[in-house]
Amino acid sequence: MIYITRRERFNAAHRLFRTEWSDQENKDMFGGCANPNWHGHNYELFVTVKGKINPQLGYVMNLKDLSSLIKAKVIEKLDHKNLNLDVDFLKDVMTSTENVAIAIWQQLETPIRELGVELHGVKLMETENNFVEYFGETN
Ligand code: NI
Repeated sequence: MIYITRRERFNAAHRLFRTEWSDQENKDMFGGCANPNWHGHNYELFVTVKGKINPQLGYVMNLKDLSSLIKAKVIEKLDHKNLNLDVDFLKDVMTSTENVAIAIWQQLETPIRELGVELHGVKLMETENNFVEYFGETN
């Protein structure tokens, strides 16, 4: 088994807030991510899949195919969008990096399996210093 990773990037707006809290309470909890008029991040997404090397080709899968799949299922839905308002699979989700990473996993798991490999991990960087990794565990 070997692991390969494809990086994709998108930028998107969002806001972390609870509607029942005041702007000040949201700011105290979520900092700059609570800005009432939204703000953006340049996200980096790393999708790692695992599989066996095809002996004829020397690789697990064509990374171009993986890139196309990630773009179709995730990037086109998130890039230049408002994560709180524009994305069907983030409806009613607090758009924390954690929750977005899990939602991305859910978008990719089945279609990646259909390509003949298994999704191993999703790493989502919100800033160069803050990132989340998800490996499909439900608890
Ligand atoms: Ni933010």
